[in-house]
Amino acid sequence: MPSLLVSALVGLVGARLASSTVQALRTAHNQSPFSNSANLPATSSCGGGVASCTNTTVVSDLCCFEAPGGLLLQTQFWDTKPSTGPANSWTIHGLWPDHCDLGFSENCDPSRAYTNIGGLLSDQGAQDTLDYMQTYWVDIDGHDETFWEHEWKTHGTCMSTLKLRCLPEGSPKGAEVNGSSIPAHFKLLRTSFRPSRFSTP
Ligand SMILES: *[C@@H]1O[C@H](CO)[C@@H](O)[C@H](O)[C@H]1NC(C)=O
Ligand SMILES: *[C@@H]1O[C@H](CO)[C@@H](O)[C@H](O)[C@H]1NC(C)=O
Repeated sequence: MPSLLVSALVGLVGARLASSTVQALRTAHNQSPFSNSANLPATSSCGGGVASCTNTTVVSDLCCFEAPGGLLLQTQFWDTKPSTGPANSWTIHGLWPDHCDLGFSENCDPSRAYTNIGGLLSDQGAQDTLDYMQTYWVDIDGHDETFWEHEWKTHGTCMSTLKLRCLPEGSPKGAEVNGSSIPAHFKLLRTSFRPSRFSTP
């Protein structure tokens, strides 16, 4: 049995994640050969909003504001004997949009339960993201692709900011999975906390 530490971080970071995710998608789209930048909404339309779960009135644009899952729960593992992934690092489990009252939704859009997520990413020129995932977002039994599909289907499809209508028109299939900003958030969180000992007795 591997020993493992689980860390879960809950944060009211919804609006910040939401805006940078959408912005990154729009920025990425701007740079893609498929883009028609004239059709893109201004990236500033997502800036400066109130954080998810702290709003006092209804926020209408859910492409820039994560709802109802405004509490983002990131889970990560530090396991040993044997370690999964790098021995000196957390590995990613998932990022889950919990509701403000700690309830949650799951499996929000079966039509976007994509398979071959690795292929979708490499087709979209996101080899850097894929490399990062292959290092830090690894499955305990080596079934990384199945693991990513499960996390995307169960939790990713519930992110309001990643709905298809939030993507620029003409985006390729799976463009919302091309989360060039999401690994950046993981990176920050993954490196922000360290267990007090590298291995458990
Ligand atoms: C905050 O915005 C969400 C999304 O529009 C809405 O469901 C919720 O009721 C709002 N909260 C308040 C207190 O108005
Ligand atoms: C996918 O993300 C990468 C960054 O990792 C970006 O360079 C690329 O343009 C994106 N592709 C599309 C189709 O948005």
